Amino acid sequence: MNKTAIITGITGQDGSYLADLLLEKGYTVIGTMRRTVSDFEDKTKNISHILDSSNLILEEVDITDSSSIYQVVNKYQPDEYYNLAAQSHVGTSFKTPVSTTDINLMGCLYALEAIRLQKPDCKFYQASTSEMFGDNTVCPQGLGTHFSPVSPYACAKLAAHHMVGTYRKSYNIFASSGILFNHESPRRGENFVTRKITKAAARIKLGLQKELRLGNLEAQRDWGHAKDYVKGMWLMLQQDKADDYVLATGKTNSVQDFLDYVFDFAGLNPKDHVVIDPKFYRPCEVPKLWGDPSKANRKLGWYPEYDFKRLAIEMYEEDVRQAT
Ligand code: NAP
Ligand code: GDD
Repeated sequence: MNKTAIITGITGQDGSYLADLLLEKGYTVIGTMRRTVSDFEDKTKNISHILDSSNLILEEVDITDSSSIYQVVNKYQPDEYYNLAAQSHVGTSFKTPVSTTDINLMGCLYALEAIRLQKPDCKFYQASTSEMFGDNTVCPQGLGTHFSPVSPYACAKLAAHHMVGTYRKSYNIFASSGILFNHESPRRGENFVTRKITKAAARIKLGLQKELRLGNLEAQRDWGHAKDYVKGMWLMLQQDKADDYVLATGKTNSVQDFLDYVFDFAGLNPKDHVVIDPKFYRPCEVPKLWGDPSKANRKLGWYPEYDFKRLAIEMYEEDVRQAT
């Protein structure tokens, strides 16, 4: 029998790739999005290629509105619920700490409550994050590593992560948490550093832009491809028991490395174009993320197909195509 899955945040990077995967697997996908002033075409650009699918249903849900979550769970009685919606920009979370916490913590709690009260056998996935390791630079970071969040974003995500464990233990709900390290793609939001770099390189190459303003180039991240990571999310919910997992490539690179690699590939010199702008510094920085995905390798059989270079080239080439 076909399964039904709710994906919150379907218009985002991960939501769109997960929808592709679940539709391929024959699921009925209930994709939730919130109303904003941006027009429908712009808002749904990551899912424009699947909007005609008869197995995709879009519903209006703001995850800070518990009633809208209860209605959609009650209406569709889902087999799986992927909680991907979030205020996902770490820098922005310092400017909007209250609403970030409302979305990133309460959105998770309302979903857990809706499942507990209305569909207790629904399997739940929470989008947890390597940002929870914060300024703990013990490397590589894995499930035994001490959490040390240093942003409102990471604090809210860590509270939600603990809420997932609490519902699993207290009510025997199948609630799994994926601690995912950075993952990118051509569908990445344009204000995250990788996409900002690939888009700028493409536009500079085509003569459409001269300058790229960036913040801290020393930060190190474990970057993978979102397409690989959504497979891991799905695998987590196909297990017999709920659990926590880390998804990462097991390699780390600095922002400077990413910048140099993309610009070199484009035949450009960063020194001719990059300006360091303190506007992009954060009040507190996460200096180094480098993940240990060994449990996911072992228990889920999950291994990423993309490495850093293939990811960067795919993003750059798609940005050239879009700018041409
Ligand atoms: P994204 O592209 O920013 O997508 C987030 C989605 O959430 C957007 O569709 C956004 O829609 C929606 N959203 C925000 N606030 C909402 C609200 N109040 N109600 C309903 N929808 C709302 O993020 P992503 O990169 O796909 O990440 C997916 C999830 O994984 C997030 O929870 C993120 O924190 C987490 N995560 C991401 C990474 C990564 O490297 N990508 C790593 C670890 C964890 P609007 O257009 O309306 O804002
Ligand atoms: N966004 C941005 N813009 N970041 C910059 C810039 C800039 O102009 N210049 C330097 N950086 C640095 C940031 O200070 C950070 O150290 C690093 O580049 C990566 O920033 P982002 O791409 O914004 O990602 P992030 O690591 O802060 O957060 C992402 O990954 C988390 C998982 O570790 C997001 O996707 C989060 O939602 C996710 O949880």
